[in-house]
Amino acid sequence: MSDTIAVGIITVSDRASAGDYEDHGGPALRKASESYGWNVLAEAVIPDDLDQIQRTVRAFSSQGCGLVLTTGGTGVALRDVTPEAIRGIMRVEIPGFGETMRMRSLEITPNAILSRSLAAIVDRSLVIALPGKPTGAVECLSFVLGAIPHSVKLALQVPTSC
Ligand code: MTE
Repeated sequence: MSDTIAVGIITVSDRASAGDYEDHGGPALRKASESYGWNVLAEAVIPDDLDQIQRTVRAFSSQGCGLVLTTGGTGVALRDVTPEAIRGIMRVEIPGFGETMRMRSLEITPNAILSRSLAAIVDRSLVIALPGKPTGAVECLSFVLGAIPHSVKLALQVPTSC
């Protein structure tokens, strides 16, 4: 099996999915992923809809994405449901990812406390829910980068063990 990480990228945004504005978060995460030597296997722009988020995460996992990145919907607006969607299908949450992303981001902006970003194992993938702002998403990904290869490896093993 190749060590290259296969990535799926999901932009969760009502407005971007409706074409009201261009998606910048997905392309920013694609660029970051490629700079890390990962293989971007699948991309989607979907609305802030719990069912669609769950279906897309699972579809990307079954396509072989060991890592699924979402961007958007982690805040406290009425339509922000990305954490609820992921928690509804996850086997286990990995709280250290959310803790680290918020802690490091707080050094950059106090508003980082508003993000309910998280990571979890869903099916055979590590899923990381990143904030919607493209710079914030790329920053948060960089803060947890060191833990990603091992976490993806464990997610691909069923059942997992250290
Ligand atoms: N984290 C980082 N590193 N940089 C940022 O600019 N923006 C914050 C926060 N996390 C931000 C960040 C803001 S303003 C919000 S509202 C929350 O992420 C939630 O964003 P989302 O609802 O678009 O996911």
